[in-house]
Amino acid sequence: MDDKISQIRKSYLSGELDEANVGGDPISLFADWMDEAVAAGIEEANGMALATASADGAPAVRVVLLRGFDERGFVFYTNYESAKGQDLLTNPRAAAAFWWPPLDRQVRIGGRVEKVTRAESQAYFDSRPRGHQLSAWASPQSRVVTGREKLQTRAGEVETLFPGDVPLPDFWGGYRLAPEQMEFWQGRENRLHDRFLFEKRQGVWTVARLAP
Ligand SMILES: Cc1cc2nc3c(=O)[nH]c(=O)nc-3n(C[C@H](O)[C@H](O)[C@H](O)COP(=O)(O)O)c2cc1C
Repeated sequence: MDDKISQIRKSYLSGELDEANVGGDPISLFADWMDEAVAAGIEEANGMALATASADGAPAVRVVLLRGFDERGFVFYTNYESAKGQDLLTNPRAAAAFWWPPLDRQVRIGGRVEKVTRAESQAYFDSRPRGHQLSAWASPQSRVVTGREKLQTRAGEVETLFPGDVPLPDFWGGYRLAPEQMEFWQGRENRLHDRFLFEKRQGVWTVARLAP
């Protein structure tokens, strides 16, 4: 695995990512970088810091897992009534960052957030282990609980409530972050790192190099 990492790093440190080959499609570049992060053995390479802001502009950041992406955007699943869900209700904009230390890479994404369709959330929920499905019901995410035993009692109750298939809760599902900006950061020698910023204007991506 270390060989794989050094091979990938070497190819970029030797200057392979430049204006000539960065391309015009940040989603496809992201797919390559994600593949390389997974190939390099990075655990939970799909973990991303996700920032939202409240109606009055107070930022909040937490880690969530990326569960899918395509040209429409980046999908994660959560409780719609959580703190992040409340933020997104009044301010449907978010930013995300991935950090892949062994490859010395960061990807940043900014854009608008929408709920995915119920059919998409249903398909994802159905793919989850039963225990995870029950926990979605049992956890009033981001609200105060008076003790762990309360959560456990609630988990036991929902288990009895749903002896067969667990239905998708109304308050749970996916969001899609539709990117308007994406930045690819590649660490280089002497801190002269590469940064390529893609911005979507009238549906067309442009790319520019930024100073590190
Ligand atoms: C590695 C990791 C992955 C996580 N993945 C998710 C996730 O996919 N969805 C989610 O709702 N919370 C996830 N969490 C928990 C969130 O970081 C956070 O605690 C929770 O969503 C509540 O955030 P909020 O109160 O800001 O809404 C994850 C935490 C960690 C450390």
